[in-house]
Amino acid sequence: MSDPIVIAIDGPSASGKSTNSKIIAAELGFVYVDTGAMYRTLAWHALQSGTNVEDAAAVEKLCRDWPAELVRRGDSVWLEVDGYFPEEEIRSSEVSAVVSHVAQVPFVRDWMKERQRSCVQFGSLVMEGRDITSNIFPDTPHKFYLDASAQVRQARRDADGVEENLAARDQRDSTRKAAPLKKVDGATVINNSGEAPEETSARIIALVRGS
Ligand code: DC
Repeated sequence: MSDPIVIAIDGPSASGKSTNSKIIAAELGFVYVDTGAMYRTLAWHALQSGTNVEDAAAVEKLCRDWPAELVRRGDSVWLEVDGYFPEEEIRSSEVSAVVSHVAQVPFVRDWMKERQRSCVQFGSLVMEGRDITSNIFPDTPHKFYLDASAQVRQARRDADGVEENLAARDQRDSTRKAAPLKKVDGATVINNSGEAPEETSARIIALVRGS
């Protein structure tokens, strides 16, 4: 059997990562991994347990003791606890407001990295996040950085019906010490402000097939 292929997609909030990654994964028959959902699931767990998300030591302890497991359901992989994935809950404004605090804790990043890398056990992947091209799979030849104007991204998030300050979250995600969001050498940068997802995903698929 040939080695799994990894398509790594990074970019700021609402840059079209999820929409495009799902289309690409379905088209190529790859497994889709939303790493943001993993951080959101931990952030949700922190809120549930009354953990102070700004206390890195408390978040580290919470993560150390967290019996979450990678589970493949259909063509996606999630973190579940006792067979439960809080799919709706992790998209709330409350979770969105705190997730980047949880995501900057070095222990959490190492914990996630180990699990995200192990996703190749499920086959070829389309994995999206903030540090996939720089830190999780830096050696994959298929690296993409999606972007869109701040206005377009805020409009997309508003259309999702989620109230949040995208700029503040993006600022935290790009300036933190541990594995910040950045454009790496070798990543194809695609600004999809005026583009339909079908066009963006077709461009990515063509690049992957042609390489
Ligand atoms: O993609 P998203 O908006 O659902 O991600 C939620 C948060 O998780 C994001 O603000 C930063 C964090 N994150 C991260 O630090 N690294 C990743 N690979 C994915 C997400």
